[in-house]
Amino acid sequence: MLIVLPSSSYRVADFVAAAKMLRAETVIATNAAQAMAGDMAYPMVRIDPRDPEWSAGRIVEFAQRFPLDAVVAADEEGVVMAAVAARELGLPHNPPEAVRVTRDKAAMRQVFADAALPQPLFRVIGADDDPVAACSEVGFPCVVKPVSLSASRGVVRVDGIAEVADTVARIRTITAEAGRDPGEPILAESFVSGTEVALEGLLVDGHLEVLALFDKPDPMNGPYFEETILVTPSRLAHHVRDEIAAISRAAADALGLVQGPIHAEARVDDSRVWLLEVAARSIGGLCGRTLRFGLLGTSLETMLLRSALGYRGVLAKRQSPASGVMMLPIARAGTLFAVGGQEQAKAVPGIVDVELTIPIGSRVRPPPEANRYLGFLFASGNTTRAVEKALRQAHAELTIDIR
Ligand SMILES: Nc1ncnc2c1ncn2[C@@H]1O[C@H](COP(=O)(O)OP(=O)(O)OP(=O)(O)O)[C@@H](O)[C@H]1O
Ligand SMILES: [Mg+2]
Repeated sequence: MLIVLPSSSYRVADFVAAAKMLRAETVIATNAAQAMAGDMAYPMVRIDPRDPEWSAGRIVEFAQRFPLDAVVAADEEGVVMAAVAARELGLPHNPPEAVRVTRDKAAMRQVFADAALPQPLFRVIGADDDPVAACSEVGFPCVVKPVSLSASRGVVRVDGIAEVADTVARIRTITAEAGRDPGEPILAESFVSGTEVALEGLLVDGHLEVLALFDKPDPMNGPYFEETILVTPSRLAHHVRDEIAAISRAAADALGLVQGPIHAEARVDDSRVWLLEVAARSIGGLCGRTLRFGLLGTSLETMLLRSALGYRGVLAKRQSPASGVMMLPIARAGTLFAVGGQEQAKAVPGIVDVELTIPIGSRVRPPPEANRYLGFLFASGNTTRAVEKALRQAHAELTIDIR
């Protein structure tokens, strides 16, 4: 099998470990300068995440010499090339067009609107459009965001007309810094209040299996939307959880996604579910480590690779009664000088691991400019509540020194 693992991926170690676990002959498609596969040197195929079509061509070329049984994208940047290559090779795949739509928040909103799915009001602000008119039409407060970025990059709540111009300019700068066309459309949406959830699912031949539903217990009211805690199982009422699953299923259908992982985000306001978005990938960063399946504690990545290789059969049940992760907030811009208290944080009952993902000495920025996660705290426990408490307690032990 071939795994697309761009140099920006947080998932290299986890996918490589999963490949090893499965003892499958593996090749890594990457733009990284050197083999990144830890102690095992995997053959590599050179790709360019900015050019999915060309990259798909490289993958197909490789497969003509060494036939592939599966092409798997580890994260967002690889999903289009993986879909194009798998289609060329006659392997199970998502339609490339469906995947492309998930990479464009404006196109995705249109697909959801056509399918009459519950979602915020939206307007697309093209390079020549008047952003004030667009925001006024969806109403204030609204949320303004680039159509092509992720990890809440460039996502900003706007409370009134006076803030629109500056926010749009700021978003265009962020878009340019991310290497995208600064003139690309911007999306304005009505602000959906309520609590947020994330659904982790796996599509097998068009059938969606829910792997986990996460609550995001920290209020995310903006103006910037930094992700912090995710805990599962969700504490929402059964009928609301069922509704979230039904809407995610309908959204995947509307998009035309049929294979592989999906990560859906929604908000719940007074038991009403509003769809934020669906990505054709699994959960981002290192958050997948909160999920272990079956008796053996099989990793999420192993499940995904097995599924891509065509292993069928009942999906294993998620292990451990409750688990969760905290993405460490970046309080301000500066240089990361030190992170103290890591041992104390690890010693908090329920904490499984503490992992920093930005080296000491690096420049860091909070959202909406941030483009990397500072680090992750992982916890498991008997109840969602206990897991949340452990994460908060461990976070309180950390002294994150940014100067
Ligand atoms: N219309 C909205 N109403 C309320 N909150 C919103 C809205 N749109 C986005 N948000 C908040 O901003 C966050 C990021 O927005 P969105 O998911 O659209 O962007 P993203 O960059 O894809 O984020 P990620 O990669 O973290 O999923 C959401 O998780 C949500 O908390
Ligand atoms: Mg999102």
